[in-house]
Amino acid sequence: MGGMDPGNQEALAKQVDRLAINQIQRHIFVCADQSKAQCCTTEEGLAVWDQLKRRLAERGLMSGENCIFRTKANCLRVCEQGPIAVVYPEGTWYHHLTPDLVDRLIDEHLIGGRPLEEYVFAKRPL
Ligand code: FES
Repeated sequence: MGGMDPGNQEALAKQVDRLAINQIQRHIFVCADQSKAQCCTTEEGLAVWDQLKRRLAERGLMSGENCIFRTKANCLRVCEQGPIAVVYPEGTWYHHLTPDLVDRLIDEHLIGGRPLEEYVFAKRPL
């Protein structure tokens, strides 16, 4: 492995700033827009994803001390009882998410650090 081109490092450093990567507190992956919808319908997964995206932006949680990073996952391999999501660093796995739950998920877990236990089906901190 050779060294990285300095130009590329600069481009990456810009992305680190733009995405507030150094401020991330939690990272949520949501199964949505699957190439093969199995845990839920495409519409159900996208509804949760769209609501999450909208609310994180509206609430200014894309940077700052409560910075939350979000990733749309094509499939989290559970393929049952979705929409499925997982939150790190705790490794908290959620089933049956809905758009109505998104604000609670943000307040209680993504900011507050207290999982919505009634929707958790596995925990595996990494
Ligand atoms: S289709 Fe959602 S976890 Fe696989």
